[in-house]
Amino acid sequence: MPFDPPPETPIGYYRDVARIFAFHCNGCHGEAGGLNLRGYSQAMAGGNKGKVIVAGDAENSLLIHFIEGRRGEAHRMPAGGAPLNKAQIAAIRLWIDQGAKEDGKSAQHLYRLDGLRVVPGKTTRISCRVPVQAYLVVTASDPATNRTLWTEEASIKSPKEQNDAAEPGTTIHWDIRPGPGWPAVIAIVVTLDYALAPPSDIGLTAELLDR
Ligand code: HEC
Repeated sequence: MPFDPPPETPIGYYRDVARIFAFHCNGCHGEAGGLNLRGYSQAMAGGNKGKVIVAGDAENSLLIHFIEGRRGEAHRMPAGGAPLNKAQIAAIRLWIDQGAKEDGKSAQHLYRLDGLRVVPGKTTRISCRVPVQAYLVVTASDPATNRTLWTEEASIKSPKEQNDAAEPGTTIHWDIRPGPGWPAVIAIVVTLDYALAPPSDIGLTAELLDR
């Protein structure tokens, strides 16, 4: 069973902290406004209440107050989900105390389907099966211009919570329909991030449905 291993020191932003944010926070704290935890500079910029991370001072960082439930149980983050475990909270605390630096690198892995023919008015089903815990971004683009036509993000986690797409090893799919201005042939790219052991294959397929 995939799980979050206890943190090693020093804490890496990408390896440890961003990974926790991706699996437990990104579903609500994204581009929609307010606190965005999807990127380093966004997380450091803070949200509606101003800065939530004070580099070098976890004790005075609002983010810590929220994940420890010190603003009241109703505001414990992740809202409505299982609380972070002790090791996860300790890792974030330590990372902030160590200066909240953006170290390491995001280890993204790409899987693609090229030359996919789509038909106006018909549904194309994109499927894949990710065997490990990972954060996934799937994008349909116009190969001629690289323009993004459609995109979705999903987290694959065990145990699966409210905002997660699936547990590792189960098949997930998206049904897409060509919108106005779509070319007849598109490319599908799936990016896996925060996977500790990225699989060589995720069985990415597309099927034209008869509807
Ligand atoms: C299910 C949605 C959801 C998830 C998941 C979630 N949050 Fe929140 N978060 C909210 C909402 C809604 C608020 C504002 C209301 C409140 O304070 O309770 C909020 C507020 C906050 C704030 C207050 C600061 C501000 O400027 O708004 C912080 C810090 C925060 N969340 C951190 C986190 C962290 C860290 C995680 C992951 C461990 C997380 N949240 C997961 C919904 C969520």
